Amino acid sequence: MVVKMVLPVIFFFQVLLLASYFNQPHHAYDIDDTNGLGRQFDGIGAISGGGATSRLLVSYAEPYRSQILDYLFKPNFGASLHIFKVEIGGDAQSSDGSEPSHMHSSDDENYYRGYEWWLMKEAKKRNPDIKLYGLPWTFPGWIGNGTTSPYANPQLTAWYVTKWIQGAKQYHNLMIDYIGIWNERLYNITYVETLRKTLDSNGLNNVKIVASDSHWGIVDDLLKDKVFFNTVDIVGVHYTGTLTVPDALKTNKPLWSSEDYSTFNDNVGGGCWARLLNQNYVNGHMTSTISWNLIASYYDKIDWERDGLMTAIEPWSGHYEVASPIYVTAHTSQFTKPGWYYYPHGHGVSHLDKGGSFVALTNSKDLTVVIETMSHDHSICVRPPLPKYTVDKQNATFQLKGSFAGITELFVWYTKLGFNGDPSKFFEKQTPIKVVNGTFSLLLGVDELYTLTTLSVGHKGQYPNSPASEPFPLPYSDDFEKYAEFSEADYFADQSGVFEIRQSNDLEHGKVMRQVVPQRPVVWCNDSDSPTSIIGNHNWTNVNVSSDIYLEDKNGGVLLASRVSSAGCSMRNARGVFLWLSPGKYELTTDHERWDKMKSGTCEMQAQKWYRASLYVKDSKVIAHLNGKKLFDVNIEVGSSKGWAAIGTLAHNYAQFDNFNIDPTG
Ligand SMILES: *[C@@H]1O[C@H](CO)[C@@H](O)[C@H](O)[C@H]1NC(C)=O
Ligand SMILES: *[C@@H]1O[C@H](CO)[C@@H](O)[C@H](O)[C@H]1NC(C)=O
Ligand SMILES: *[C@@H]1O[C@H](CO)[C@@H](O)[C@H](O)[C@H]1NC(C)=O
Ligand SMILES: *[C@@H]1O[C@H](CO)[C@@H](O)[C@H](O)[C@H]1NC(C)=O
Ligand SMILES: *[C@@H]1O[C@H](CO)[C@@H](O)[C@H](O)[C@H]1NC(C)=O
Ligand SMILES: *[C@@H]1O[C@H](CO)[C@@H](O)[C@H](O)[C@H]1NC(C)=O
Ligand SMILES: *[C@@H]1O[C@H](CO)[C@@H](O)[C@H](O)[C@H]1NC(C)=O
Repeated sequence: MVVKMVLPVIFFFQVLLLASYFNQPHHAYDIDDTNGLGRQFDGIGAISGGGATSRLLVSYAEPYRSQILDYLFKPNFGASLHIFKVEIGGDAQSSDGSEPSHMHSSDDENYYRGYEWWLMKEAKKRNPDIKLYGLPWTFPGWIGNGTTSPYANPQLTAWYVTKWIQGAKQYHNLMIDYIGIWNERLYNITYVETLRKTLDSNGLNNVKIVASDSHWGIVDDLLKDKVFFNTVDIVGVHYTGTLTVPDALKTNKPLWSSEDYSTFNDNVGGGCWARLLNQNYVNGHMTSTISWNLIASYYDKIDWERDGLMTAIEPWSGHYEVASPIYVTAHTSQFTKPGWYYYPHGHGVSHLDKGGSFVALTNSKDLTVVIETMSHDHSICVRPPLPKYTVDKQNATFQLKGSFAGITELFVWYTKLGFNGDPSKFFEKQTPIKVVNGTFSLLLGVDELYTLTTLSVGHKGQYPNSPASEPFPLPYSDDFEKYAEFSEADYFADQSGVFEIRQSNDLEHGKVMRQVVPQRPVVWCNDSDSPTSIIGNHNWTNVNVSSDIYLEDKNGGVLLASRVSSAGCSMRNARGVFLWLSPGKYELTTDHERWDKMKSGTCEMQAQKWYRASLYVKDSKVIAHLNGKKLFDVNIEVGSSKGWAAIGTLAHNYAQFDNFNIDPTG
């Protein structure tokens, strides 16, 4: 009896709910180009670097590495990016690692270092139209010439940056489209003007300057100074919260969110990214949005864990994760291209009555409309704070006027970001929607993303699941023989200084890993003065780290470490077990800054000779050996209970490493 009563009651309420849902007061949103179009769309991009964010990707085996690159760059497959921005390595820490400069010193020049050249070529291979954008975060020390700024000698810095652009062309056949100034740091008008002149006098007139990869403050200087105004092609700002300022609009220059997102890549990250991609134009008139970062390919537990469009942090297993931002990007990137135009505000670009937004874009031949209904709590980005707002389900009606008034159907792509256990749907192709007399309606739920388009090209690329996740394989060893010179050894992640593969003069040692940064760089954060490269897992406790070591300069030293607790811009705060070896002496500390000395003594080490050193840690026991001879065997209160293994140098001194081992000690 009770059961029979309940069912009709529920049914009655459902009818009521549906009725109120469908009977919302209603007007149609115009999509109308009869009075012209809005700004030119410049594309969706992502950043590799700032710093070392793609470090682990290059070590993936095939076919996984190519699959990952397809998800990022291949047109009509995944994110299908339009712009690829890379760090111009400057030998210093720039968030999650340091990247090598093409000129470690004034008499050094090399265009085969690091992985950004390779990544740019892989991007171009998949999409020859992808735009390339270079930006320095840091500079080698000789550029600073004793200062902490790259503007000590504007001509020198302009020449150094121009060299990088020329090297891209000469050695890799890569044309750089855009060049920046100094990431999130001061710009210097003399320098920017000098850079323009230097580019032009080297035939690089086509390279556009984006300034200043920081905040809107630059627009005041642009409006004040006519020469400076003509020097800057694009105003690029970071983390604007989708907003612009009146003076920025007054410049009439393209406005870009040249770095944005920076958010953990779960579904909230996907929601953040979807909201930004629409609303950076709706609210901020920004015509390009660029994600930091391209791919989270740096160890978890360094700062900004997994803030990439997808994740690939296990080259040893091949495991990788395609995250929601990949498919969110596809909703715009697969159905537009740089050079398309947005519709004007109010005629195809607007907020929706019950929350969310839509943007319409066209190349005159085709039309694409992207609609997002991201709720507040499910689209919070890492910064800036997001003011409260609400989004409700709604029946949205659109009225096409002008060029596309006569079309009869639109292809439909759909994403639903699931939360609290609800399933997600990513980039699903739905039945095309009928357009009758230029009109169509959609019932929009919350946290949904729609693309409606006249283009039939979209494709949800998918590979079989990647291999299962596995911990870093132990025991581990590397003799560095398999690598190309100037590359970096698998799994090592430089945090300050640069450790690159070099052919040693010693036949027995062959290829070695060498710290190659000779002086403190012009830094972006406060780099440690002890160059250090970490490897392994942040949860390691008991390991024996050993390596052949060769100190080139008697004023320097060499480091072996384990249980290294932090890295990135927090490298100086790292706790752990650190063994420092320099000519005639050793030191054991529980911190990277060498304040907490546990033990020190003499040893037979000299410069310019190979030795084998090991640092064994088990619980509170620490044992060190040099050439088979025990240096000490102590029980200490270890400063951190877990962390990575590491090698390093005492200062910015040259040193070599070979036959590196990590053995678990149980
Ligand atoms: C949505 O609104 C349109 C225009 O008012 C209407 O024709 C349509 O029936 C509505 N859709 C639903 C499902 O109520
Ligand atoms: C570096 O600074 C010194 C002294 O300040 C100056 O004489 C020299 O010309 C500078 N070198 C470069 C390359 O700018
Ligand atoms: C820009 O750099 C030049 C050369 O180092 C310097 O003279 C000038 O003061 C700098 N300008 C600003 C605004 O810092
Ligand atoms: C479309 O518009 C024409 C002319 O205004 C009208 O005659 C026709 O009934 C409309 N069709 C629909 C399905 O609304
Ligand atoms: C350390 O973390 C890895 C994954 O990152 C995990 O597979 C492994 O079980 C963890 N080991 C310990 C001892 O917690
Ligand atoms: C960098 O860190 C060191 C050690 O903590 C500190 O002494 C120094 O003042 C810092 N430098 C800057 C510029 O913050
Ligand atoms: C640590 O490993 C090295 C192997 O390179 C070995 O020579 C050394 O004896 C080990 N240390 C301990 C205390 O077992």
